[in-house]
Amino acid sequence: MLLEAASQEIQRLREEIREHEYHYYVLDQPKISDAQYDGLMRQLHDLEAAYPALVTQDSPTQRVGGQPRAGFQTAPHSSAMLSLDNALNDAELAAFDNRVRDLLGGLSYQYVAELKLDGLSLALRYQQGSLRIAITRGNGQEGEVVTENARTIGSVPLYARAEALGEALPGDFEVRGEVVMPRAAFERLNEQREEEGLSLFANPRNAAAGALRVLDPAITASRRLDFYAYFLLVDGAPAFDSQWRCLEALSAMGFKVNPQRRLCDGLPSLLTTIREWEALRPGLPYEIDGVVAKVDSRVQQELLGWTAKAPRWAIAFKYAASQAETVLERITVQVGRTGALTPVANLKPVVVGGVTVSRATLHNMDEIERLGVAEGDTVLVERSGDVIPKVVRIVEQGPERLQFTMPSACPECGGHVVREPGEVAYRCVNAACPAKLRERLLHFASRPVMDIDGLGDAIVDQLLTKQLVTDVSDLYRLHADQIEALDRMGKKSAQNLVAQIEKSRQQPLPRVISALGIRFVGERTAQFLAAEFPSMDELMQASEEQLQRAEEIGPKVARSIRGFFEDQHNVDLVERLRAAGLQFHYDPPRPATRLEGVTGKTFVLTGTLPNLTRDQAKAYIEAAGGKVAGSVSKKTSFVVAGEEAGSKLDKARSLGVPVLDEAQLLSLLGTASS
Ligand code: IVH
Repeated sequence: MLLEAASQEIQRLREEIREHEYHYYVLDQPKISDAQYDGLMRQLHDLEAAYPALVTQDSPTQRVGGQPRAGFQTAPHSSAMLSLDNALNDAELAAFDNRVRDLLGGLSYQYVAELKLDGLSLALRYQQGSLRIAITRGNGQEGEVVTENARTIGSVPLYARAEALGEALPGDFEVRGEVVMPRAAFERLNEQREEEGLSLFANPRNAAAGALRVLDPAITASRRLDFYAYFLLVDGAPAFDSQWRCLEALSAMGFKVNPQRRLCDGLPSLLTTIREWEALRPGLPYEIDGVVAKVDSRVQQELLGWTAKAPRWAIAFKYAASQAETVLERITVQVGRTGALTPVANLKPVVVGGVTVSRATLHNMDEIERLGVAEGDTVLVERSGDVIPKVVRIVEQGPERLQFTMPSACPECGGHVVREPGEVAYRCVNAACPAKLRERLLHFASRPVMDIDGLGDAIVDQLLTKQLVTDVSDLYRLHADQIEALDRMGKKSAQNLVAQIEKSRQQPLPRVISALGIRFVGERTAQFLAAEFPSMDELMQASEEQLQRAEEIGPKVARSIRGFFEDQHNVDLVERLRAAGLQFHYDPPRPATRLEGVTGKTFVLTGTLPNLTRDQAKAYIEAAGGKVAGSVSKKTSFVVAGEEAGSKLDKARSLGVPVLDEAQLLSLLGTASS
């Protein structure tokens, strides 16, 4: 290539990359996938390597990460937080290993293999064992101080037991690791945002970055982030003579260290590990994008040294993103429980990462406009983990493009479709829309709500077509013989379903509240509401102002609840549910007297309990003469664990502290659980 042409191409690539970096780092809304971004960077890299005279200081290749954002203070890192070079295939990994072998001139060496979590790196500095400051990677030299937010992450120890290691470690040290948002938390967050008409996060990493960099720590706390440690430093250098020992020490100090770690004594065992761990990928609770290999010995790390951007002693082997090209045949619309119209891409079936994909979500109209897609286009589809497949971008426009417009009438019932100001979603406003009813029935029956096992899509569809149910209260009038008459239903399964429905009458009030399907009122909110308004009547009569006295209820949610009960159709439904014998009163069990078995005992609460809020549980324990502590130690008498219990539960198990669930706690406190 002529110098002139190379210069122009370099210019063009830089501009394109800068634009993507802005979307990625500043807006947290990337326009292309990471794999595509890596591809662009790689092209620029290669060109600059061929024409070194054209390299400038402001080239995207000459910096480590993003710029710190306004709003947070910045602080310098104790030593640079560098990036890693990538190996995109086995040959590139072999080339890395060859270079290591050459540079070490005959010394034998080992690698530590670790998972490459797809999150963002964070440095935690401890003084005398206490967390003092948390800094994001920022541009690698300095980052944003996000201490208050980091403190809300359950797996970030506020005090780390350096003494667990004997005299080996001074009290002042630094831990670096990765902040991730577990997939389940990510999906819940996006569902919630979709219901609220907010734009969706593209992936868990962006959601985690967003959560760590909000100005209000309460928001970070509600997003359920997780932290995995992978470096232990003193004065900016590794604290021990090997990476393996650093990981072991971190684990002993109470940090979460990924259980997937392995000492490999050369390229073959590294490759085996990489293959083995790839199979784990779909089942992991968080996303990974590869495996990091680090030369184990600290002395050898120093011999190998660093380039300006990355250590020569480590490499990131990247797994191929599961992507494929296919034709977007049609865009159809699905109507959800709240009436939101979700556009769905119907694809020419294509295998992506071993799974045949024929549908992908397009989320909403904004997303369609952002992608610029139309029916007939060839598109790139991506599947990461078990997340719903999505359309990444257009590969080629179709010959006859049919632009999509949101229908003005609901495709299910012909009802009016409106887009409320400030909302992304279009909604069908017909309260009797059958599609809404279908989704409402499925929501009602779902496990965290009324938990009616066996009432899935197939049965619900038949109940609707046969007009056996016209709202959720009709479920309680169904007879076994009506159910038995449905397709693929035997006597036994019909009886089982009736028994399940029968059993659901006993579900406590918080579940009944969330079963109503009030917008913005999920299980957690329903629990807070029941704690403040222990009967349905009190809840129905509460003013917006009174509603806001319940924990976590703000004006928007309060308005939605009031609006729900002001609609006569909804009040009628509630009355039918009352007549069906559902639980309209809530009596969170209270311990009556001070109990000998509890007095002086220390409890630690972790995770979400099914019926009690944390404050209630604490109040009951204290009323019975017990104490509630924040962290688990050998002195802890009991750990009370609910759903999504984290490191405290692990720690309890490792220390042999007895673990109770809510029911066991209540029986210990001397009351029967309802
Ligand atoms: S080592 C100089 N170990 O990957 C050493 N990084 O592409 C750099 N990451 O910025 C970090 N898991 O955010 C390391 N086990 C792991 C990792 C890991 C994820 C991230 C980290 C880093 C990026 C480098």
